[in-house]
Amino acid sequence: MTALVTSQQPKLDMSRPIPKKTTSAPGLSAAARRLRLKETLRVRDYGKLLLRPIKPEDEPLMVEFHRTLSEESIYSRYFEHMTLECRTKHDRLARICANDDDSFALVAEFPGNADAPRAIFGVGRLSRTDDPLAADFAILVKDAVQGRGIGSALIKRLMTLARACKFNRLTGEVLVTNHEMIYVCRHFGFSVQHMQDGLVQVNHDL
Ligand SMILES: CC(C)(COP(=O)(O)OP(=O)(O)OC[C@H]1O[C@@H](n2cnc3c(N)ncnc32)[C@H](O)[C@@H]1OP(=O)(O)O)[C@@H](O)C(=O)NCCC(=O)NCCS
Repeated sequence: MTALVTSQQPKLDMSRPIPKKTTSAPGLSAAARRLRLKETLRVRDYGKLLLRPIKPEDEPLMVEFHRTLSEESIYSRYFEHMTLECRTKHDRLARICANDDDSFALVAEFPGNADAPRAIFGVGRLSRTDDPLAADFAILVKDAVQGRGIGSALIKRLMTLARACKFNRLTGEVLVTNHEMIYVCRHFGFSVQHMQDGLVQVNHDL
């Protein structure tokens, strides 16, 4: 957002203490450790999933997760077509599977059963933005299990994490044609603002 600039800038009063800069939110990983973000979620047909922070050992599961995604879901998440090869490059996945204080991902893990192996069903990511008090989020759920509440559960936990990090706004960009995501965001009370280039910005005060 562009700040309003007045032609008459107030003079600096050097005798007064310099006001403290607005502090940015504490680190994401540090806040997540305090929250102990690990819980189960029951979903239709698959039973219990584990919602937990992503970890480096998830790289092979992430490759499999990406194999399952449709072109449409990829485009909805990244706003461009990315090949499977590009999405599953080791360098990229190594970065994505390591949480830090600027970017933090939660996964929904299916523990596996007699019929299907252990797998990642969804990923939700919270990232710092240029605004020290606003965090950005994005969600990606495996096509075959969309519409079972996994995306909503991830958003809910990311909101909890963003609050714990003392961000005061959660924001995201969504394709204007992505009715599912806009529906889910509205359900959580996000405002939806139309932008250029076929995108909407969703915002939630925390
Ligand atoms: C958008 C996305 C994250 C939602 O996750 P999900 O696990 O499928 O969502 P949920 O199951 O939690 O919620 C789906 C809700 O949307 C509703 N919905 C589904 N399709 C809809 C449509 N076309 N219009 C309106 N609502 C719709 C469902 O009825 C459900 O509502 P309910 O909880 O009241 O029944 C998931 O579809 C996805 O990963 N899409 C591809 C990537 C993407 O678009 N990411 C978002 C941009 S970052």
